[in-house]
Amino acid sequence: MSEFVMESCKVNEDGHLTVAGVDTVSLAKEYGTPLMVMDENKIRQVCRIYKKAMIENFGENALPLFASKALSFKGIYRIMAEEGLGSDAVSSGEIYTAKEAGFDVSRMVFHGNNKTDEDIRFAMESGVGRFVVDNIEELEAINRIAGQIGIKQKIQIRITPGIDPHTHKAISTGKIDSKFGNAIATGQAEEITLKALDTPNVELTGFHCHIGSQIFETEPFISAAEIMIEYIADIKKKTGFSAFELNLGGGFGVRYVKEHPYFDYSAAIKTIADKMKNSAKQHGVKMPVIMMEPGRSIVASAGLTLYTVGSVKQIPDFKNYISVDGGMADNPRYALYQSQYEIKIANKINAKSDFVCSIAGRCCESGDLLAENITLPKAERGDILAVLVTGAYNYSMASNYNRLGRPAIVMIKDGKPYIAVRRETLKDLVAYDM
Ligand SMILES: Cc1ncc(COP(=O)(O)O)c(C=O)c1O
Repeated sequence: MSEFVMESCKVNEDGHLTVAGVDTVSLAKEYGTPLMVMDENKIRQVCRIYKKAMIENFGENALPLFASKALSFKGIYRIMAEEGLGSDAVSSGEIYTAKEAGFDVSRMVFHGNNKTDEDIRFAMESGVGRFVVDNIEELEAINRIAGQIGIKQKIQIRITPGIDPHTHKAISTGKIDSKFGNAIATGQAEEITLKALDTPNVELTGFHCHIGSQIFETEPFISAAEIMIEYIADIKKKTGFSAFELNLGGGFGVRYVKEHPYFDYSAAIKTIADKMKNSAKQHGVKMPVIMMEPGRSIVASAGLTLYTVGSVKQIPDFKNYISVDGGMADNPRYALYQSQYEIKIANKINAKSDFVCSIAGRCCESGDLLAENITLPKAERGDILAVLVTGAYNYSMASNYNRLGRPAIVMIKDGKPYIAVRRETLKDLVAYDM
């Protein structure tokens, strides 16, 4: 077991942090910083865990869909295709990226609480497999556009089961007060379901729910799944419609820091499946084909970000800041949610840690921080700082704030690094300016 939260991190004889067997200090030197480094083998390993657990417990048609909002670029869709996963998408941009990678978008579900007419048409013309319908206006737009194109679009309806998954409120989306989906408790779920069954250019295949993200307990997932089975039974009784698909969304927790627990995805899937099968039996419904949408848990622990230290500012009797050459532009998660990270000085892993400091990014915002009051070895300009477990919702949330180019992504496969996404250049930054 590694001494770091990322299993693929170790220390080499130079006292440098390594990832997937490669010296991070050498990677920083060769590819520049800020740099995202991803362990491809680790991504594939987690994909296989999901695939195996879902097929063993839910049957051979069960399908994990990678929630590509967590990390979207062509290479990641190629990996998902090779591992036999489907994917979700939330925009034409994600669908287009997947298509460009040769991904079979019939294995894709299309999410979002405000799909534009252009998105809907693009997704249909691309052959996206399922739309997850969020609201009645969208259902009407899908019906209209499917009619114009001359297809019957398969859909799932997004249901809000009303679960509070005890997580950060900004990322818990299964409660009744949510911008997503249709609550069972308010009657809106039934209303949109009845309408969908009466809408000519759509084929309702089943339902979808997603209760939130970074959840470590299995209980909220079991409750949501049982509520969904009950809902399927209720709709069957009222209309005769037997949902044959149920998409349980994503949300399994990731160990960002040592205080976070290990979460056994296989064991959780088995427990959820056992409880669901019982519930289906009790309610007299056939177990639907199950889909899940893990995002964070597939890519987070496969990635880290490397920065170069620029300055160490000591405010006497008050606070110390280490400033790095990235920050909220490549990783807005601390600014958004005060997300915790394990942070190391990659070239001084064995040095004594006694310098209490905050890590500041380079953007013109006081809130541009990556951590506060952590203890590191005393750093100096030129040191390499590593932020671990940044594979999810970092690159995909990155911006060009302050006209900073997005970092490169270097993947390591079988001990060999390669550039999966190149660094944005100054020219890229003015590419759209007229
Ligand atoms: C609908 C939906 N599915 C899947 C996910 C992925 O969740 P996670 O990355 O926590 O697995 C999200 C993220 O919030 C989501 O909104």
